[in-house]
Amino acid sequence: MTGAGMGSGHTRRDFDDRADRFDRDAGLGDDSAGRIAAAIMELVQPQVGEMVLELGAGTGEIGRHLSEVAPRYLGLDASVGMLAVGRNPVAAGPAGGRVVACDCDGRWPVGDGVACCVFASRVAQLLDAEHIAREVRRVGARVVWWITGRARRDPWGYRELLRGRMREALRERGVEPRMSRGADSSVGAALTAAGGVAVEPVDAAVWMHRGSVSEMVGAWRDKRELGGVGVDRATRDAVLDEVERWAVERFGDTRATLESREVYTLSPVRFSDAPG
Ligand SMILES: C[S@@+](CC[C@H](N)C(=O)[O-])C[C@H]1O[C@@H](n2cnc3c(N)ncnc32)[C@H](O)[C@@H]1O
Repeated sequence: MTGAGMGSGHTRRDFDDRADRFDRDAGLGDDSAGRIAAAIMELVQPQVGEMVLELGAGTGEIGRHLSEVAPRYLGLDASVGMLAVGRNPVAAGPAGGRVVACDCDGRWPVGDGVACCVFASRVAQLLDAEHIAREVRRVGARVVWWITGRARRDPWGYRELLRGRMREALRERGVEPRMSRGADSSVGAALTAAGGVAVEPVDAAVWMHRGSVSEMVGAWRDKRELGGVGVDRATRDAVLDEVERWAVERFGDTRATLESREVYTLSPVRFSDAPG
């Protein structure tokens, strides 16, 4: 397994490097993670012994809850650092969950026909859509759900405004940020082309994110890429210095605690070989 297996410029090392800070910088929170797991179970209604498989399981925020309620849970992730954070559901839940380090753009370490659900939270845009479609059909039981989850921020909250300014500053320097949402929907298109039926999205959790401008910009300073693309240190520093100057004018004290409303949405696609 190599970092090069990850798509869109992200490498395994990026996530390894960020693993210790990931939940603090980008975590969903335990309460929201529990609600998301419950909403998945309500959609899927697993049969005895069926597996819920999670791709890009990360630090296990959602997986820990899934392993408590699913008959079987397996989380896959290419980053050993993310898996090692310690909240992973290795021994949680009645049946016990498991996590395995692997590149999800390769063959998944799962037998044929065992999974009732393949779930991918905030990662589908990094994966190969055609490969996912083939593997979901292979590992899926007679009824199997493909479910992607993503968090959306209030467009007028400080987090989205900062992100927008950062992307604009990148463009001003000739760097085009990645359009992650288009890639996410290309997975949905591949899955429906393979015979899946898209089901109405579900808003599974809503919360207020509390943080500061300096925390958000600080987290960007530690990353190798900005806006989903690799940038050199000089460009990154110039972009983020500019974002900080803009933020001082817009928000005043960059250390003050601000709030941003966030919504986590599940987009399901259902495959069924069973009648009805
Ligand atoms: C943005 S994080 C999301 C983590 C978690 N699903 C969540 O929502 O909190 C993306 C995760 O996907 C993993 N990942 C990215 N590309 C992958 C690949 N090709 N195979 C396996 N894992 C991958 C990363 O290591 C990282 O843990």
